[in-house]
Amino acid sequence: MAEMGIYEAMRTLKAVRRLKPDLIPDDVLHRVLEAATWAPTGGNQQPWRIIAVKDREKKTRLGAWYSERWSAFSKLYRSALSADMADDARKRMTRTLDAGDYLAQHFGETPVIAIFCFNPKQMAITDAKQNRPSVVGGGSVYPSVENLLIACRAEGLGCVLTTLLCEVEPQVKELLAIPEGWGTAAAIPIGYPVGRGHGPLIRRPVSELAYLDSWGRRLA
Ligand SMILES: Cc1cc2nc3c(=O)[nH]c(=O)nc-3n(C[C@H](O)[C@H](O)[C@H](O)COP(=O)(O)O)c2cc1C
Repeated sequence: MAEMGIYEAMRTLKAVRRLKPDLIPDDVLHRVLEAATWAPTGGNQQPWRIIAVKDREKKTRLGAWYSERWSAFSKLYRSALSADMADDARKRMTRTLDAGDYLAQHFGETPVIAIFCFNPKQMAITDAKQNRPSVVGGGSVYPSVENLLIACRAEGLGCVLTTLLCEVEPQVKELLAIPEGWGTAAAIPIGYPVGRGHGPLIRRPVSELAYLDSWGRRLA
């Protein structure tokens, strides 16, 4: 079984969008799916399920829908690439969009597409009445997604959390026989990376994102 330091795994868990079609051994797939089950959920209800899609025809359909949604989405991003953007930021965004194009072209060829489903009736959504979009329900799904991503990292598998297929949820539900009352939260294409795969991240420093005692007050 793959073992690596948890901090090393988190520090290098990049979105990997160039994935090989090579098969993932069943025991490896089982381990990364099991890692998802260890995540916390409200009241320990585990109101989520994963459909690990390996069927070629189903993946082709998912790939076609993903590609269609990506093409609309990426157009907006490409048009936001402006000349007055800092050079390295523009290069970074162009690289990400190129990798996104690659994923869109090959989405259906990845060996496994993990579709995360959730059931809101099994969730205590404590912020449902606030005058803003509710996020608490997602807290009983996305920690499982993150566990799966970290486990993939440890196994040397590339992966990326995607949500564009949520825009065509009714079609996805029909294709995968997802029952009434369940929704879709994410689609994770998983495969061995084409290139270097995971690596160092670009993130804002903790001093900008975490405060001490009140909003905006810097940590020591
Ligand atoms: C909620 C959420 C939705 C995302 N949806 C997509 C998606 O549909 N397609 C995609 O290519 N990446 C998607 N991503 C991946 C992000 O673009 C990526 O995590 C972010 O740009 C950081 O990239 P990095 O980890 O390589 O630095 C999503 C990430 C999150 C957290």
